[in-house]
Amino acid sequence: MTVKAIVATQSADNTRRWCQAFRNAWPEARFDAWSESSPVPSGARYAIVWQPPSALFRNETALEAVFNLGAGVDSLLRLPELPRSLSIVRLEGAGMAEQMVEYVLYGLLRAAREFSNYAVSQADVRWQTRPAIRREDWPVGVMGLGTIGTEVAQAVARLGYPVAGWSRTARPVPGIEIFGGQENLAAFLARTRVLVNVLPLTPDTEDILNRDNLSRLLPDGYLINVARGRHLVEEDLLALLDGGRLMGAMLDVFRTEPLPADHPFWRHPGIVVTPHVAAITLQDDTVAQIVGKIRDMERGVAVSGVVNRGSGY
Ligand code: NAP
Ligand code: GLV
Repeated sequence: MTVKAIVATQSADNTRRWCQAFRNAWPEARFDAWSESSPVPSGARYAIVWQPPSALFRNETALEAVFNLGAGVDSLLRLPELPRSLSIVRLEGAGMAEQMVEYVLYGLLRAAREFSNYAVSQADVRWQTRPAIRREDWPVGVMGLGTIGTEVAQAVARLGYPVAGWSRTARPVPGIEIFGGQENLAAFLARTRVLVNVLPLTPDTEDILNRDNLSRLLPDGYLINVARGRHLVEEDLLALLDGGRLMGAMLDVFRTEPLPADHPFWRHPGIVVTPHVAAITLQDDTVAQIVGKIRDMERGVAVSGVVNRGSGY
C-alpha cells in the first residue's frame, strides 16, 4: 500500500517546496500539500508540519504520527485541535547542532575576547590593545543538554573554557560538569558567567530567564538565548543590563517575532539581535531524517525523537 503523508506549514509556497523535496527523495510514496480551502481528508497516516493551521487535525482524521520540521514542538503542542493520542516526532539535529555551535562560539568569543570593543576602537581609528583573557574567568553554563545543548557544551569545552550543563535528568556528558533538576539550578547559575539557553519551551521552563535567576550569575554575566523568546522575561533583562548587573546579551529568539521595530532590544548597546537564525532547518538533512523514520515506522521499528506529551518535549 502506498505510504501517504500530508504536508502543512505556515505558507503555501513553503508547503509546496517541502512537498517537492519529499517527493524527490521518495518517489514511491505520496506527499500532498494541505490546503485549508479544499479540506477533503487525504487519508494520510503521517503529517509533516511546521506551524500548521489547527484545522489540519480536524480534517485529517486518519493521522497516526506528526513529524515536526523543527526541534521545538512548543507551538505545535499549543494547537487546540491536536489530538492527545497522536504521536509527535521532533527533528533531532539534522544539521542544526553544528549551526548552533557556531552561533554560541561566536557569541562567547565576541564577549570574552572583547571584539565589540575592538570594533569601537577601529571606528575611532584607535590602536588600543587589551590584556589577554583567562578562560577560567569565563565559565560557561548550558541550560538544556539534549541533542543540541550537548554538542554546544562539548564544543565550548574543547576551546578550554570551564563548562557546566543543566538538565532535568543529570545524564553525564564527558568533560562537562553536570547539574540536574530544579534543586541544583541556583548552584549551576552561581558558577556561570556566560549563560547559554538551549532548553525546550514547556510549562516548566517558560520565563526561566527572569530577574531572580539571571541575578544569580557571576558578575558581568552574559546571556545567549537561542531557544525560545518566552524563556526570557524581557523587561528583567533590560533592568539587569541597565543596572550593570549583566554585561550583555546575544538573542536569537523573542516573545514576538519578527521583533517589533520599536522594541528596545534593537538599539540597546549591550544587546546583539539576530532574527531566529541560530540553527536553520536544512532541507536535505531534514527530508532524509523524516523519510528514514517513516520507513522505520512502516516496518514496525520504533523511532527516536518521539515527544513525551507529559513533559512537553
Ligand atoms: P532536546 O534534545 O529535547 O533537549 C532538551 C534538553 O532540555 C534536555 O537535556 C532536557 O533534559 C532539558 N530540559 C527540558 N526540560 C527541562 C527542565 N524543566 N529542567 C531542566 N532541563 C530540562 O532539544 P534540542 O533538540 O536540543 O533543542 C532544544 C531547543 O532549541 C528546542 O526545543 C528549540 O526551542 C530550540 N531551537 C532553536 C533554534 C533556533 O534557531 N533558535 C533551532 C533549533 C532549536 P533531559 O536531558 O534530562 O531530558
Ligand atoms: C527552530 O527554532 C526549531 O525549533 O527547530
